[in-house]
Amino acid sequence: MEVLNKNKKAVASRFILLGLILLVLGMTFGLIGSFQYIIPGFAKHILSFEQVRPLHVSSVVFWIISGAIGAMFTYLQEYNNKAIFSTLLLKIQFYLFLSTFTLICISYLMSVFGGREYWEFPPILGIPMLISWVLLIINFFKSLRTLQHQPVYIWMWLTGVIFFLITFLESYLWLSPFFRNYIIKDITIQWKSYGSMVGSWNMLIYGSSLFCLEKISGNKKYGHSKIAFLLYFTGLFNLMFNWGHHIYTLPTHHYVKHISYFVSMTELFIIGRIIYLWKSSLTEAQKYFHILSYRFIVAADIWVFLTLLLAILMSIPGINVYTHGTHITVAHTMGATIGINTFLLLAFGFDILYKGKHHQQYARLPFWILNGSLFIFWISLIIAGILKARWQMDTHQIPFSSMMIQLRPFFILFTISGTALLISISYFVYLIMRNYLSNKK
Ligand code: HEM
Repeated sequence: MEVLNKNKKAVASRFILLGLILLVLGMTFGLIGSFQYIIPGFAKHILSFEQVRPLHVSSVVFWIISGAIGAMFTYLQEYNNKAIFSTLLLKIQFYLFLSTFTLICISYLMSVFGGREYWEFPPILGIPMLISWVLLIINFFKSLRTLQHQPVYIWMWLTGVIFFLITFLESYLWLSPFFRNYIIKDITIQWKSYGSMVGSWNMLIYGSSLFCLEKISGNKKYGHSKIAFLLYFTGLFNLMFNWGHHIYTLPTHHYVKHISYFVSMTELFIIGRIIYLWKSSLTEAQKYFHILSYRFIVAADIWVFLTLLLAILMSIPGINVYTHGTHITVAHTMGATIGINTFLLLAFGFDILYKGKHHQQYARLPFWILNGSLFIFWISLIIAGILKARWQMDTHQIPFSSMMIQLRPFFILFTISGTALLISISYFVYLIMRNYLSNKK
């Protein structure tokens, strides 16, 4: 392995920079989609909702994956105090990643689909993604010196990179007639793979957040502590088995649902721990709150709490029957990908790319606007979801169009808060980019 220098480290940062651009692009597509909720046919001749939705979802999913890769490799180098095994491999992976994303966007713009929900692009484009992930795994394992006495974040990264590969392959099993020809088997595997894939990228991101916290606090003990490993195993257990609430509505084996229901409830342990540590974490937060990265990690902790609360409620079969296919699911997905994933990745963005002191006076108001607007955004989707769930189960259903008129005020609120969200997140992206570019000169 080569000695770590600024240029070698910068290759990993490219993933974060690319991710930040995709984030702004993705949110712009999301905003167009939200306008289409309230103004039917809005900009349809340029981009229909069928195109805007996958453009939005793919851009933000690539933001999360790209940011997670960039943070993991940067922190791995800092941990080893050495460059990774091969910067050339990482560069190849970067260009593969970028060109695949570009081709995906082109295919959506040309209305060429052929994939499944979340990966709606033609399946052939899964091949370069797969190659790029295999390169990542080689680079990751070759950069590890040993597996003995490693801190919890190394195990989280390791689990995340392997499970992402497994679940990615699993999400394409439908290509084989053996799965595709049996609808229940097909959908069960499909929905299961997405649930576990999110668990895999969460492993990469949570691992980096622990490394970042150790860096800020200077306390290296937590990464080796029993509680850190206990939480890691709870997360791993959930990654493997808690996807059952995705398939409650399918007529599949009951034991699968019972096991996953039990596993989902182990997440109560994580919730309980957050509440138990609430007071001491507040005192600690006051100590480091002036550091922007830390501030984003604290905000993400609150969103872990809110998201888990909603997820646990959604895992109760009696409630799941109502929430399935409503905006409550969208609230759950967006709450987690924005409040947890995006906030943590922004924390890493500030930690890795921002040099010098953060100008807090410029960040305080946007930070609160960001959190407030996300909360309103989330709540408006939940209320719209509850109203739709009530309509779905009503024996004397009013027409669909009348139900949609009832939801309109909440969609307007969703669009207004979504605009504030887009502006405030873009502001933080601008702060990071401006600082990075001015330090590069
Ligand atoms: C960091 C920013 C964001 C992330 C990570 C994100 C993530 C996502 C994800 C994962 C979905 C798919 C949800 C599902 O199928 O369950 C989604 C859907 C959507 N998002 Fe976002 N989103 C972001 C910001 C925004 C913003 C700012 C807006 C609007 C102003 C927006 C509007 C939408 C719309 C309209 C949908 C489609 C929902 C549907 O299918 O009915 N998103 N987003």
